[in-house]
Amino acid sequence: MSTLSRDELRTLFLFEKLTDEQLDWIAENGTIEEYAAGTAILHEGDPATCFYVLLSGTLRMTRLVHGDELEMVRTDQRGSYCGATQFLMGQRGEQRYSASVHATTDLTFLSLPAAEFSEWFSKWFAMAAHLLEGLFLGRRNTDAVVGQRERLLALGALSAGLTHELNNPAAAAVRATSSLRERVAGMRQKLAMLARNDIDPDLLEQLVDVQELLVKQVASAPKLTAIQASDHEDELSDWFEDHGVTDGWDLAAVFVPAGITVARLEEVHAAVGEAFLNTALRWLGYAVETETLMGEIEDATTRISTLLAAAKQYSQMDRARFQWIDVHDGIDSTLIMLSGKLSHVEVVKEYDRSLPAIPAYAGELNQVWTNLVDNAVAAMEGNGKLTIRTGRENDRLMVEIGDTGPGVPAELSQRIFEPFFTTKAVGEGTGLGLDISWRIVVKKHRGDLRLRSEPGNTRFQVLLPFTEQDQETEQAE
Ligand SMILES: Nc1ncnc2c1ncn2[C@@H]1O[C@H](COP(=O)(O)OP(=O)(O)OP(=O)(O)O)[C@@H](O)[C@H]1O
Ligand SMILES: [Mg+2]
Repeated sequence: MSTLSRDELRTLFLFEKLTDEQLDWIAENGTIEEYAAGTAILHEGDPATCFYVLLSGTLRMTRLVHGDELEMVRTDQRGSYCGATQFLMGQRGEQRYSASVHATTDLTFLSLPAAEFSEWFSKWFAMAAHLLEGLFLGRRNTDAVVGQRERLLALGALSAGLTHELNNPAAAAVRATSSLRERVAGMRQKLAMLARNDIDPDLLEQLVDVQELLVKQVASAPKLTAIQASDHEDELSDWFEDHGVTDGWDLAAVFVPAGITVARLEEVHAAVGEAFLNTALRWLGYAVETETLMGEIEDATTRISTLLAAAKQYSQMDRARFQWIDVHDGIDSTLIMLSGKLSHVEVVKEYDRSLPAIPAYAGELNQVWTNLVDNAVAAMEGNGKLTIRTGRENDRLMVEIGDTGPGVPAELSQRIFEPFFTTKAVGEGTGLGLDISWRIVVKKHRGDLRLRSEPGNTRFQVLLPFTEQDQETEQAE
């Protein structure tokens, strides 16, 4: 283990003005390390333990940005430094290298143990250390404030969307309930009428049986096209006319969607005979209608509870924030929340259900799905195919959200991740969707967010680690 003399250290610009005592500390604690050309010296994300000063050779510093390795710096300047630099900014706790460093040629480094160096640094330059720390904390507070604001914006958008989504089924349920009240009143009257006409109790019983039969048929009635429906209505109307039933058209409109055929009417006819046919059919008409209306109310209220369950799952109001989750749950609840926007979009789910649970912030991942689906739908202008695929890529889980829109031009492929970058009209987009998503996926989950795009086939890929990762210490909370 060789080291440098005071004079040699002074030739490095960082150490130029240090006192003899300070230089001695560096000489004593520093080690000289040699690396062959092509060696990867530090890896982005590894625990940051050393502070390096370049003595000779050329280095290359890179960072992974959206899956691509970007070269940040290439230098042969003697005295350039890299490695654990955040310590000097007063950042506490475990640090990680923010970039990878490779040897482009054979090179030598002076390496210092980061924790000790940082400690001495703040003793030697107390005021500078305070100022740097202030700078660092200031940035972190700004990030925290911005983060909170973003969460509020997301919550606002969520509740606006939810209100809109809840409105339709709620209105449908109210409408159906008031029609139901009318029909039930109608049934009571028809029953009274049947009674007044001295209907034979056996006949009434038979009628009730037919009624049960018809009502059961409602739920399982096949969906008819408009043309099929109108053909069937013609058929029933003719039958009503032949049998002297008044206003047969109204009844046909009720019976056809319930799957009631001429053969069934013949059965009713056979059971009740000519005298009661008219009243009996009206009564059955009401029975079928009430069943249909109750079905509508059931659908609407089910939809309301589905939406509320999705909202709850979406916002994770009732759960701890970091947990082991099945990504499909969050994606499905997001799709339910966004279903209003998806009405003209073909949604294809290609889920790999064998994927294990992953450790994640479920509520925040839902924001990612929302942003990506929202962008995809916007790009397709509401029409096209949205494909959501899940699978694995090496040691990470992949969620891919694909659309058939025009795609992202190559020259914009990096810029779209910048905060406030948007191609949408003023008031339509804030340009924060992808920036927020990137921070959630990459910063919070140590995953990756990548774009693969060509016209007609744009895919945003979210990669998430299967195992728990150390959380970033500078995280704004
Ligand atoms: N699936 C996509 N297809 C084509 N372009 C896209 C797609 N997703 C994003 N973009 C482009 O990236 C830009 C930035 O997206 P981002 O989600 O960050 O903001 P925004 O959608 O414009 O606004 P916001 O999300 O705040 O409503 C979009 O304006 C659009 O030009
Ligand atoms: Mg967006």
